[in-house]
Amino acid sequence: MFAKSFILSLPLISGALAATAEDWRKRSIYELVTDRFARTDGSTTAACSTSDRVFCGGTWQGLTNHLDYIQNMGFTAVWISPITMQIYGNTHSGEGYHGYWPKDYYSLNPNFGTADDLKTLASALHDRGMYLMVDLVVNHYASWGDEDIQWSQYVPFNDEKYFHDKCWINWGKQDSVENCWMGDGYVPLPDLDTENDFVSSTLETYVSELISNYSIDGLRIDAAKNIRKDFWPGFCSAAGVYCQGEVWSNNADYVCSYQNYMDGLHNYPMHDYTLAAFRSNSGDMSALAETLNAVTRKCADVGLLGSFVENHDNARMGSVTSDMSVLKSFAAMTVLSGNGMPIAYYGQEQILTASGDPDNREALWLTGYPTGGDKLYDYFATLNQLRNWLVWNADEADYLTAKPSYEVASDAHTLIASKGVMKLLASNVGSGSDPKVATSGWSAGADLVDALTCTTLTADSRGRATATMPDSAPVAILPTSYLAGSGICGL
Ligand SMILES: *[C@@H]1O[C@H](CO)[C@@H](O)[C@H](O)[C@H]1NC(C)=O
Repeated sequence: MFAKSFILSLPLISGALAATAEDWRKRSIYELVTDRFARTDGSTTAACSTSDRVFCGGTWQGLTNHLDYIQNMGFTAVWISPITMQIYGNTHSGEGYHGYWPKDYYSLNPNFGTADDLKTLASALHDRGMYLMVDLVVNHYASWGDEDIQWSQYVPFNDEKYFHDKCWINWGKQDSVENCWMGDGYVPLPDLDTENDFVSSTLETYVSELISNYSIDGLRIDAAKNIRKDFWPGFCSAAGVYCQGEVWSNNADYVCSYQNYMDGLHNYPMHDYTLAAFRSNSGDMSALAETLNAVTRKCADVGLLGSFVENHDNARMGSVTSDMSVLKSFAAMTVLSGNGMPIAYYGQEQILTASGDPDNREALWLTGYPTGGDKLYDYFATLNQLRNWLVWNADEADYLTAKPSYEVASDAHTLIASKGVMKLLASNVGSGSDPKVATSGWSAGADLVDALTCTTLTADSRGRATATMPDSAPVAILPTSYLAGSGICGL
């Protein structure tokens, strides 16, 4: 695949290494649910009924055996679902295959393998120059029912005194979001009292040990808005690695306020407005441009957010549209919109079609892991190859640190995302036409290329160039000179 030449130039990582926010800025992340990605036996037929919400047999060893599949799409980091021991048995809401129902923070989930399997995964990633991001839950534990909770089973917080008193969250009230409980009467999630000094200092010691025991390079923090903000600086500094938190809100002010306490956040405003803008040809492109500009302006450092359109809690784009050019727009927005580092959700490349939890945690092995083909596998490789070149090799391209800016083209259907030397054009009109879109701001007479289709164009004497979007698919235009030596488009 194209990505090979770039892979050889990645620095190799040996042993444990605390990867900072700066180290992560260049990364492109592939998120997966361990239970559903790959099995140790390599099966491509083992049944997995997502609606049953039970363990399907995916393991860390199975994942280790399938890293070529991820790396050949150009991803440089893998985010795995939570690793810790869960409450067991089939509850009213199924089993803890997803990992968000912890019982013992110090034990690994045996369904996924042993400590050695997890360490082998970390070193296999490091041998490839890739990073391991682990999803971490420190907001809560889980229980069978809310009467008679077995506090003594919890490790290390084995007493009711370490928890907030039971109350169900009122999502409109921040103090309730932080101090009350998620879940329900069937599977309540008792909420840790992180105001308790013993709890917060124990969590800091715990996370620093966890990072070092398993050579973890970064953390995805579950339910970050459910803990008081000023808990996070101490916790993430004890971790010593990049932290990206889940603050589920489409309000830029609210999400960005957390970046004063944590390196990065999922870019939920971008997710919601991108979906609304591209899901139909009447989607609101102006609202998207305004939101992305607001996030860029309000967040302390937009380059440390995570750009995504799919994840384990939301609909897959294959459920939103079957139009290939729109699916490509969603993929290009994920990797090249510039409003954060890319995060693709496993199966997005195979255009899986579930509309939400629990169906969007499909067993990927049932696809047979095809590479190439008529889905988006090659397309993600092309998108990542371009971004990887610009962030790792093209030093003068100013792609990594430049602030992005967004505008809507005169057709009202195309977003123009500018970052450093590149402009990404993405349209919501759908396949069947070849829109022409005017761009400006180039040097007079500059030789330009759309790096996604290799079509060349030349800026006029006033620095304008009109791009053609083939069958309405995205184009990524930049001065040809920045691709010299990349192998992209034969340059
Ligand atoms: C890390 O490993 C040490 C040594 O084996 C062990 O005592 C400690 O409990 C482990 N901590 C975690 C969080 O796994």
